Amino acid sequence: MRTQVGIVGAGPAGLLLSHLLHLQGIASVVIDARPRDEIERTIRAGVLEQGTVDLLTRVGLGERLAREAFFHRGVYLRFGGRTHHVDMQALAGGLVTIYPQHEVLKDLIRARLDAGGEMWFEARALALEDIDGSPVIVFAHGGREQRLECDFIAGCDGSHGLCAGAMPDGGATRYERSYPFAWFGILVEAPPSSDELVYASHARGFALLSTRSPTLQRMYLQCDPADRIDDWPDERIWTELRARTAADGWVLKDGRITHKIVVGMRSAVMEPMQQGRLFLAGDAAHVVPPTGAKGLNLAVADVEVLAQAFARHYRDRDGAALARYSADRLPHVWKGQRFSYWMTSLLHRAPGETPFDERRRRAELDELVSSPHLAAALATGYLGVRPLTYA
Ligand code: DHB
Repeated sequence: MRTQVGIVGAGPAGLLLSHLLHLQGIASVVIDARPRDEIERTIRAGVLEQGTVDLLTRVGLGERLAREAFFHRGVYLRFGGRTHHVDMQALAGGLVTIYPQHEVLKDLIRARLDAGGEMWFEARALALEDIDGSPVIVFAHGGREQRLECDFIAGCDGSHGLCAGAMPDGGATRYERSYPFAWFGILVEAPPSSDELVYASHARGFALLSTRSPTLQRMYLQCDPADRIDDWPDERIWTELRARTAADGWVLKDGRITHKIVVGMRSAVMEPMQQGRLFLAGDAAHVVPPTGAKGLNLAVADVEVLAQAFARHYRDRDGAALARYSADRLPHVWKGQRFSYWMTSLLHRAPGETPFDERRRRAELDELVSSPHLAAALATGYLGVRPLTYA
């Protein structure tokens, strides 16, 4: 088997790259170890930056999104029992779009299938060969070992995937940080309690109210990274959520909890994001903590740049953009890291936080909601800035 770009991983980065390459007349094959229905069902984050929405719309993936997504002017910050609206549209000229990642994946898989795109599900990558010369992806499918020869490999298989592990020892550095807390996430059959997302910072810890549909809500609670699902019976979840999101005259609408998950929090960046003919994108290259929902958006921005670089290579026989891919992306990746780290540390209570730390954090929150300059910095970071447009 042979293709131009062999793509490992059918997440947002891999599938969108395959779609963008197809629009440029470049062939690709996507392989992923998971079955298609697992990819389409796995619940992840739900917030799209304005630039992500614009790109998806420009490349023909915006139809269901325009119909089904929620578009909010901003978000609420809640602390000290008071609610503060951050009007991101006024501050930064964009909208907060809530459209779950697995819906983006469904749209992408449908578009690839409609275009006759080649995707192999339940196909586990076993090895990458000759990434500096004539690359081959060795994978297992249906009990047989197969070989996919390609001009280039795009590593879109996440932070624990084969591709990040194929970066040469000594040739690449992984910068990492872990956080002393995690999120406990639930899906609840209930109407929204708020017309926009609520980010709550409280002495008992962080809480976030998000939404999925008029009848299904997504909520998160800061928890201990060692917590297991069984540590959080429904009553404990509601007690904590009510306490952490409490505000005058406001009522949290509860309902049947249909899904529980512990989401770990860490930051990681691989530098460089490429080696020879292997290019990493999305979580394979960098991981952010979930606060602010940057992960999917960084992955989309990676493959927007990477697809253009491949187009320059194949169309103009100019390899300069490919050679510069990592250097082009890393400043933006680090901006995403900086933002996610800042929003995480601003809103969470660290174990062992001193009364000084707590008051310093509170002062920062007070300043954020009283200074248009600081609020504008939050809004531009949250909505994202896009370095390039997709031609
Ligand atoms: C969601 C996730 C986030 O990390 C966030 O900052 C906002 C919303 C969500 O899953 O809806």
